[in-house]
Amino acid sequence: MTTTHPPAARRLLEGKAAIVSGGASGIGRATATLLAREGADVTIADLNAEQGAAVVREIIAAGGKAAFEKTDVSRAADCLRVVESVTARCGALHILATCAGIIRRFSVVDLAEEDWDAMMAVNAKGAYLLSKFAVPSMTRNGGGAIVHIASDWGINGGRNAAGYCASKGAVVLLTKAMAIDHAAQGIRVNCICPGDIDTPMLRAESAQLGQSDAEFIAACSNRPLGRVGRPEEIAQAVLYLVSEASSFVTGIAHLVDGGANAGSM
Ligand SMILES: NC(=O)c1ccc[n+]([C@@H]2O[C@H](COP(=O)([O-])OP(=O)(O)OC[C@H]3O[C@@H](n4cnc5c(N)ncnc54)[C@H](O)[C@@H]3O)[C@@H](O)[C@H]2O)c1
Repeated sequence: MTTTHPPAARRLLEGKAAIVSGGASGIGRATATLLAREGADVTIADLNAEQGAAVVREIIAAGGKAAFEKTDVSRAADCLRVVESVTARCGALHILATCAGIIRRFSVVDLAEEDWDAMMAVNAKGAYLLSKFAVPSMTRNGGGAIVHIASDWGINGGRNAAGYCASKGAVVLLTKAMAIDHAAQGIRVNCICPGDIDTPMLRAESAQLGQSDAEFIAACSNRPLGRVGRPEEIAQAVLYLVSEASSFVTGIAHLVDGGANAGSM
């Protein structure tokens, strides 16, 4: 589906270069699409080359600027390459949104060691590695904005998700520590803690738990707003946190969860 872009004068991210990890699907895809619609030159860094290239084609067809770099965010060499390539191609890097992530729904007893390692490698180490190389590039250019996609399960625990919760808790505190370290370089660092959002990941969870999609999504909808979220609703929060509208905001873990963490119902 193509969308028309607003005139350049009204776009919030005109002239900005952005990396969106996990941009081939779900929240990352919606984020890449929205940042491009607001004028950013977006590079999607994802393992999935076919879907990543399709998102790039959609953005370009809608009049936006985008590129794809096949990237495994758990590999330092890949993260360095994508940061160097965007910095060279665009002249600077202004925005990093780390959306790549995986989930394995097990208690600590049933979680295989390889699955613990995989979630830590993609969810926590991936956010660290991309930041490690993005911060020096942003610093050379006078600053930037970083948004990590954590989870409400980085703040509160969830059933049969011990390793995932641990990896997302790490992202929340990585965010806060980075915000302190890099404010002086003009870099704001925030994270978003989504509640359940209807993406391929959410539907993969229902399969892992042996439930039908409908049954699982109905259970996930038990929150004040009475539904699961849409990826575009997280992308809007990313846009706020990377734009000038949030110029005094750094180090926050911003819940976007339909009220799920407001209290017991
Ligand atoms: N969907 C939800 O309910 C929900 C809730 C809270 C947090 N989140 C988080 O939001 C982020 C996006 O999730 P989503 O629901 O859009 O999932 P998704 O499965 O739709 O998309 C995840 C993307 O990450 C990519 N990816 C996976 N491993 C990678 C790697 N090693 N290197 C590069 N790319 C890799 C995948 O190819 C995919 O394109 C994740 O960090 C997830 O943990 C999702």
